[in-house]
Amino acid sequence: MNTAVVGLQWGDEGKGKIVDLLTAEHDFIVRYNGGANAGHTVVVGGETYALHLIPSGILSSEKTCVIGNGVVVDPAQLLKEIESLRARNITVGDNLMVSNRAHVVMPYHKEHDAALERVLASGSGNNSIGTTKRGIGPAYADKIHRSLSIRMGDLLDPDYLASRLGVICDIRTRELDALGVDAPPLDAASLTESLVSMGRELGPHITDTVYALHDALTQERPILFEGANACLLDIDHGTFPYVTSSNCSTLGIPAGTGVPGRHVQRVVGIMKAYTTRVGEGPFPTEELGETGDRIRERGNEYGTTTGRPRRCGWLDLVAVRYSAMICGATSLSCMLLDVLSGFDELKLCTAYELPDGTVTDRFIPDAYRLPQAKPVFETMPGWSEEIVGATDREDLPMAARDYLERIEAITGLPIEIASVGPERNQTLRLQPPTAMPSTAGLT
Ligand code: IMP
Repeated sequence: MNTAVVGLQWGDEGKGKIVDLLTAEHDFIVRYNGGANAGHTVVVGGETYALHLIPSGILSSEKTCVIGNGVVVDPAQLLKEIESLRARNITVGDNLMVSNRAHVVMPYHKEHDAALERVLASGSGNNSIGTTKRGIGPAYADKIHRSLSIRMGDLLDPDYLASRLGVICDIRTRELDALGVDAPPLDAASLTESLVSMGRELGPHITDTVYALHDALTQERPILFEGANACLLDIDHGTFPYVTSSNCSTLGIPAGTGVPGRHVQRVVGIMKAYTTRVGEGPFPTEELGETGDRIRERGNEYGTTTGRPRRCGWLDLVAVRYSAMICGATSLSCMLLDVLSGFDELKLCTAYELPDGTVTDRFIPDAYRLPQAKPVFETMPGWSEEIVGATDREDLPMAARDYLERIEAITGLPIEIASVGPERNQTLRLQPPTAMPSTAGLT
């Protein structure tokens, strides 16, 4: 069975842990979107691994990890991750494939990202997105622009690179200048040299991953698709414009890997037991006072990629239900349940009240209308016990079980997995895997 793991909120749901857990059941682990804006933290045997580009499946050497064509790859970051894994005796060889069609994140994309954010923040009113400044938006923009983009396969062809980078550097220098970046003109020759050198190192990994994946399908080798970022950050279905620049919902799988959606039978939607968000953008259930601070401290809610404190609030089930619908989720995984220990009562947002007094259970994927929605909460009793040692549903206090059951009732989906701590063994398998009928698909 092929599986997708996808975040149903605004990211940082703990997908890395579930991908790590489900890796055992699959042969191929595949990234299909995003870039080094994602941060997956996996804790194994007390060791913490923070990965941005390489699928966390790399920690199991017998698995094949694939960076699909839909990912934007910063080759310098990729090399850094490979080196730091090797330094910790993790094998990175034939088990890592990078699509020759994945587009490259260049140093000037990162400069452009940061400069644009600065300009947008300094105008009247703050119009910045609060990006990770990893160059994601500018790299995807170049992909769509076509004539200005370089793909990973191009790094293996020095003459082609040299023939393209002259004009690209010229245009980029003028754009950076217009954004107020005070730097010498971009030097095409030295950029070519550095890309060729990185291409030489990454060459053994760069390949046609579409055929590799279809070979895997033919041989019935199970594939796990690892979504980066999350559904509410999806460029088409998220809270636009406060989103990232890729299709992070499962709808990104076909385009970002070349694998038709009908091959994905199981979609595990990952959600926290509460809600967080980094960067700007609407967040109806955000708690700005003591409750938000308490969730942040208990949940260590600081960004893996940027270290920024995350905004925290109660669980928004209107949002989760919407994302589950867009992603075709067949089950849920509820993460960080342990963070909620010690609250007298817990709130679940089940609907929104609009300015005209109407109440809706539909999400509003539009950053300018969503702030008008007032969350309608259901209140449930909390629990005081720490639950980090729970290994089964029966080990959980009744209030925690009720909380999970209420989530299942409102979303109409089974909670397959619940997580009560960062370690692999702090994971409760509550239900058997749920799959779509084999004729159903995502495309
Ligand atoms: P970008 O992807 O760096 O362009 O950032 C766009 C928005 O998406 C910003 O609000 C980021 O904070 C947010 N974002 C991007 N990737 C992630 C992620 O993996 N987790 C949480 N937020 C993210």
